[in-house]
Amino acid sequence: MSGSALRALVIAHSNIALAKYWGKADVAQNLPAVPSLSLTLDNLRTATRVTFDPALKADVASLDGAPAQGRPLERVTTLLDRVRALSKQELFARVESVNDFPTAAGLASSASGFAALGLAATRAIGLRLSPGQISSLARASSASAARSLFGGYAMLDRDAHEAEAVASGRHLPLVMLVAVTASGPKAVSSTQGMTHTASTSPYYAAWVEHAPRVFDEVKRAVLAGDFDALGRAAEHSALMMHASMIAANPAIMYFAPASVAVIARVRELRNQGRTAYITMDAGPHVKVLTRPELAQHVEAALLAVPGVQRIIACEAGPDAYLLDPEMDVQTALAQTSEHDTARHTPESRK
Ligand code: DP6
Repeated sequence: MSGSALRALVIAHSNIALAKYWGKADVAQNLPAVPSLSLTLDNLRTATRVTFDPALKADVASLDGAPAQGRPLERVTTLLDRVRALSKQELFARVESVNDFPTAAGLASSASGFAALGLAATRAIGLRLSPGQISSLARASSASAARSLFGGYAMLDRDAHEAEAVASGRHLPLVMLVAVTASGPKAVSSTQGMTHTASTSPYYAAWVEHAPRVFDEVKRAVLAGDFDALGRAAEHSALMMHASMIAANPAIMYFAPASVAVIARVRELRNQGRTAYITMDAGPHVKVLTRPELAQHVEAALLAVPGVQRIIACEAGPDAYLLDPEMDVQTALAQTSEHDTARHTPESRK
């Protein structure tokens, strides 16, 4: 087998949880303590190419054009080790991965990154696993990544190894406006943040107890196509998760002044009858859910909030998929973005 044949290029889309995962039932296996449900997004993408090469003496990786070292490289190698064990091959790999959004700042780059890496690595080495098996492989590296193998609405149950599709994006169309409120990497990674919350927050037990109920509300709302019920439950899930972190000692606080200002603006919009709801992850950006027909108005209102740098408007995105492995990763990302924009952008946003 020639080295150049052992390659695959994948596009995976990030996802934002509407019912949040925060906390592990099993740290060693990375199994979640609570069920989660997310929407995979069209405009947050990762392109990853994996090439297994007999000439390499160790795995090498570049992330957004810079060589990966330390913890990020270790996380890549750990996933590749699992793929080597499954395929009974000992080749090392070259990994090239690029995102079209800010990484490691609460925009779930690990979700799309490990979903893309899982699919690309298994295909490159010649394994044909089911989406569920690849989801399980991605979950072991980052639990939110399990959900990014699937387009539309996907869930990862408590203690589950693999995510599953819940409904297509068309089942309940919505627009998620990502208000980018600050640049730079986040201070506390989600993995560290959840371990610290579990060991020091008196509210962690309450979060684990109540999260499944809010998850049920989110799932019911998605299946019923009820936007308002979904928005209310999603906002509750996010704020309950953040409350458990704020009660940790010392507190974990991802809110920047602009995050709070966006939340206040969304509450005002709601009081004026414009239905919009927020969710927020392990970073200062606020994601605002709204109905497609209100998206333009809500987007303008958010752009006017001091501290909001830009808005990434997203709708439901597709399953992770393979592209021609000989393409350059940047080109793959750019072409896909143009293609998706042309395909998805509603008339109101063109
Ligand atoms: C707040 O999946 O990044 O985005 O499994 O430790 O890698 P690890 O954590 P990660 O956590 C995501 C947390 C969240 C909520 C969510 O996506 O459900």
